[in-house]
Amino acid sequence: MHSFYARLLLVLGTLLAVLDTVQADNPIIQSIYTADPAPIVVDDRVYLLADHDENGSTTYNMRDWRLFSSADMANWQDHGVIASIATTFPWADLNAWAGQIIARNNKFYMYLPMRRRGGNTAIGVAVADSITGPWKDALGKPLLENGRIDPTVWIDDNGQAYLYFANPGLFYVKLNTDMISYSGSIVEVSMNVASFGSGREADGTTFAEGPWVYKRNNLYYVVYAANCCSEDIRYSTGPSIMGPWTYRGVVMASAGKSFTNHPAVIDFKGKSYFFYHNGALPGGSGYTRSIAVESFTYNADGTIPLLTMTNAGAPQIGTLNPYTRNEAETMAFSSGVQTQATLDGGLAIINIEIGDYVKVAGVAFGNGAKSFYARVASATSGGKIEVRLGGVTGTLVGTCVVPGTNGWQSWQVVTCAVSGATGIKDLYLKFTGGSGYLFNVDYWQFA
Ligand SMILES: *[C@@H]1O[C@H](CO)[C@@H](O)[C@H](O)[C@H]1NC(C)=O
Repeated sequence: MHSFYARLLLVLGTLLAVLDTVQADNPIIQSIYTADPAPIVVDDRVYLLADHDENGSTTYNMRDWRLFSSADMANWQDHGVIASIATTFPWADLNAWAGQIIARNNKFYMYLPMRRRGGNTAIGVAVADSITGPWKDALGKPLLENGRIDPTVWIDDNGQAYLYFANPGLFYVKLNTDMISYSGSIVEVSMNVASFGSGREADGTTFAEGPWVYKRNNLYYVVYAANCCSEDIRYSTGPSIMGPWTYRGVVMASAGKSFTNHPAVIDFKGKSYFFYHNGALPGGSGYTRSIAVESFTYNADGTIPLLTMTNAGAPQIGTLNPYTRNEAETMAFSSGVQTQATLDGGLAIINIEIGDYVKVAGVAFGNGAKSFYARVASATSGGKIEVRLGGVTGTLVGTCVVPGTNGWQSWQVVTCAVSGATGIKDLYLKFTGGSGYLFNVDYWQFA
């Protein structure tokens, strides 16, 4: 009997340990619901523009645009709200939907669809000197207004920029070099089966919405959400940015608790990545979506292999340095925490309750960390940060006590001894304490 129970416990223990280590890292953002990924590589980081489904939505309830970034495709830093209908675009009133950012003229331009107050769906353009902002409405009015959405932008080799947009149909216009005006008329792309496949859209093709236009190795691509609903992702290729487009088939089948999807494709540090959205977070649905990413390899002829949604996400590139200041809102995965701007200009993780945690992937501790410190604030009586490795119930290497600091923005640095943190490990900051909100964390560092 005893040995039976001992063996059972051993099996259960092993099972729990396995569940602990195969912690999923898709969706890549867990603190809010995000949709319609639009990544851009800037220097050695990927910046990800996302739109944002309000928690609990049962229809589209989208008011602002968010920015995230990653140097390693596994740990994503939250940069907060970079534009919103209320503060950036007073001429609009609803529908902060899918956009895209591009760099030119030592500035960044961001094309965003929204509903003009008392009018039609329009595309606005915002401009910033730094991708993290501040972003300003470039025109004080729409760039164009014709009831279409889903702007995607590409600068061709000769310097001519093109803004594509869609739904219904697919259109493009030539942007001027100032990137905030256009020349010539809007061109409607011919929707035919040779270009977009035979499908269940009103025009008889598979093309639905969400085009993502780019060029790679002399081939132009338009990847798009197709065959509504639930949408899958398909693509077409062509010899020029203006086509003609040849239908190439499915990239990702419909799956994952969201009746829409939205593609984005980039190369970063020598690998190719496919971004999409689904409803994989707890509470997820077609109106509470989450962005995910997969890495992939193009076929030799430039075609894209069939991709599936995974919980694991993309492998980490390199490791994370714990001996420099790391923002608490840099996370490979998290449970229960939200982020908020601090009064001194950064972001912090907030709404921390007992049992919540943050995972930081692939932390290179080297020969061993001796101490951990974190900048914290608490309007209640605080709690504890358990520093664990390998899993949320993994090896405990240190425990930092967080006192009450008399305010959620009254920051104080706490420190504690660490032992046994060596090599490359996934770091888990597990939060414990009493009931209610315990404390906020601004940043952390090992020494
Ligand atoms: C949504 O709200 C619930 C209830 O407050 C909360 O538990 C959950 O973490 C929230 N999810 C997201 C993604 O914001």
